[in-house]
Amino acid sequence: MSKVTVVGAGNVGATCANVLAHKDFINEIVLIDIKSDMAVGKALDTWQQAPIDSYSTKLRGTEDYKDTADSDVVVITAGLPRKPGMTRDDLIATNAQIVASVTENIVKYSKNAIIIIVSNPLDVMTYAALNVSGFPSSKVFGMAGILDTARYRAFLATEIGVSPKDIQALLLGGHGDTMVPLPRYTTVAGIPVTDLVAKDKLDAIIERTQNGGGELVKLMGTSAWYAPGAAAAQMVEAVLKDEKRVFPCCVRLDGEFGFSDVCLGVPVVLGRNGIERIIELELNNEEQTLLANSAKAVSEVIEVYKNMKL
Ligand code: NAI
Ligand code: 2OP
Repeated sequence: MSKVTVVGAGNVGATCANVLAHKDFINEIVLIDIKSDMAVGKALDTWQQAPIDSYSTKLRGTEDYKDTADSDVVVITAGLPRKPGMTRDDLIATNAQIVASVTENIVKYSKNAIIIIVSNPLDVMTYAALNVSGFPSSKVFGMAGILDTARYRAFLATEIGVSPKDIQALLLGGHGDTMVPLPRYTTVAGIPVTDLVAKDKLDAIIERTQNGGGELVKLMGTSAWYAPGAAAAQMVEAVLKDEKRVFPCCVRLDGEFGFSDVCLGVPVVLGRNGIERIIELELNNEEQTLLANSAKAVSEVIEVYKNMKL
């Protein structure tokens, strides 16, 4: 038996629940939101899709945390999304309070859950949820790296004219403009990307990836949801199926890569115990400097969160 709760029945949360339902391996998905009717409606809509798309996953919408009791995995997407002109960091005042109260409610009813944070600013909200939950850092971590890497892989696939399935890549750092795509660890079916894409084109793709979230906010007036929802669902699947997938995830570092007391995107092994291992790969001087720059940017916003004294 497995039970997953998705907090926030908005664009990302509802997409995540829908993608998970289609994977057809979870017994029950609970969708919870302060807008109770929206949660109930989207859960019912996804259940009515089951006969068409052929899955058995049961869904329940609610505003009552009792219904989330004994969840194996909880995905937190509650909070405001960006509007044009906003950075993710502008969301901290509202979203830190929301994520703190949601986390308190979740841990009250699910003492052994693994918690995946999606709300922005992602790295700081992961830090906040970890702090409020009192759980170990292997059990509370954030989704951003899979999404940012997917954007990078999608842009490269278009440029090279190959399937995105064949692009393998790694991206480190915070979920912001300072994120660090690593061309040295990017291949097309094992062929170094630098053999196939000229440096100026690769630099342009890296810059587009760093601004990938903002590009969509400009186009749609709010932030993206299909790829983010699917990325969070992929993490849930890796945990519940104990897949030992290697993904970039946002985790609290305790000395890894030379950083502490900061949540940052790094490659990890994801399985039934959550973050089972951080893979501390060798970085060259340039990559380490870029990662330090990203860690500094995240730490500054963590200070803002700490000063909120929630
Ligand atoms: P949305 O506005 O469509 O949905 C957010 C939902 O949260 C709303 O339904 C709202 O009623 C609910 N909510 C607010 N306060 C709540 C509370 N206290 N308890 C339960 N539910 C509550 O927003 P969207 O597009 O789904 O984005 C959600 C969050 O995810 C935003 O903070 C956004 O910036 C972030 N995000 C993060 C990504 C990442 O890569 N980590 C990617 C995309 C979005
Ligand atoms: C994104 O990258 C806004 O974090 C959200 O699409």
